[in-house]
Amino acid sequence: MNFSGAVKSKLPHVGTTIFSVMTAHANENQAINLAQGFPDFSCSPKLIELVNHYMEKGFNQYAPMPGIISLREKIAAKTEALYGAKYNPDTEITIVPGGTHAIYAAVSAVVREGDEVVVIEPCYDSYVPAIQLNGGRAVFYEMKYPDYSIDWNEVKKLINFKTRMIMINTPHNPTGTVLTDKDMLQLQKILDNTDVVVLSDEVYEHIIFDHNEHQSVARFPKLAERSIIISSFGKTYHTTGWKMGYVLAPENLTREFRKVHQFMAFSANTPIQYALADFIDDADAYLQLNQFYEDKRNYFQKLIKGSNFKLLPCKGSYFQMLNYAKITQERDLDFAVRLTKEHKVASIPTSVFYHKKNDNNVLRFCFAKSNETLEKAAERLMRV
Ligand SMILES: Cc1ncc(COP(=O)(O)O)c(C=O)c1O
Repeated sequence: MNFSGAVKSKLPHVGTTIFSVMTAHANENQAINLAQGFPDFSCSPKLIELVNHYMEKGFNQYAPMPGIISLREKIAAKTEALYGAKYNPDTEITIVPGGTHAIYAAVSAVVREGDEVVVIEPCYDSYVPAIQLNGGRAVFYEMKYPDYSIDWNEVKKLINFKTRMIMINTPHNPTGTVLTDKDMLQLQKILDNTDVVVLSDEVYEHIIFDHNEHQSVARFPKLAERSIIISSFGKTYHTTGWKMGYVLAPENLTREFRKVHQFMAFSANTPIQYALADFIDDADAYLQLNQFYEDKRNYFQKLIKGSNFKLLPCKGSYFQMLNYAKITQERDLDFAVRLTKEHKVASIPTSVFYHKKNDNNVLRFCFAKSNETLEKAAERLMRV
């Protein structure tokens, strides 16, 4: 079937995301899927029990638009305990159906036709379409390969009277880098005396390694007062399919954010919110996540030691970047497809995270997988 009218695409350059493409290749070739970022192990049975419990108790209708208050109150307490920042659960915290929804709603609430948004590349693939659909223009800064550092003085040069927003992401997908307190202070400095809003994507806040502390913008009052912080329960509780998250922002930004959120989704899943409000009491579930994933990172790195892939540093998130220049000079997309077909391991070519498709011969592998999966994948990668 085809619609006979004329539809001019609002996103002419966007096709099916690479995550779906590589997952399809993985399934077709019965390959191990280290491409898409999701755990292949289950979440806590206690959490499932709680969701069941609230469903059976009849908590199955619309939740309040900003989320149930008990969950918002507990998020406020958690944020204060971790980052020393006070967010008012009534006016500054919103429960949302996932981080991607929150990113879109935040951009839509803030960015107008002709506004510029500074995007730091490589970046999560929803950022730029969200800007474009809202009439904004993405202005790009490229992190410096191979350590993916950011020179904030160069970022500063991109900021002008048209700049409405800057998007940051720490721990970072796909590079596994994390921003330090020095980065945050420099960001704070370059935004001083501007009206720029920070969209701080912190969905991997609990996946940070080597005793580093997550530098949430919430820790920096001068940054927090201009920031919309995005957090995802999917990443923290191994439940990416539930699409649940929350947003922290000062009252005036939250007000505008909610105006959009209420017409995109109105509210997020009710029984899961009740379940999370109970489950969040167990601080170990998120505090031990760093070590859990650090062990996985270390294990994966150990398994592929001596292979022809070169490990790039991974300080956070559940992604390991591997440079394959020693193996071939093929384009990363071609090599990722060949690796899936011939060696039965699927990954993501990192050029897709750049608007200019920069190719550094690097693939991204997700290590949020069981040890058996990692062992099997590593065995195959060692033979490449
Ligand atoms: C950097 C980043 N931001 C946001 C999201 C979206 O989170 P959610 O699954 O809660 O929509 C992801 C998911 O992969 C991500 O990697």
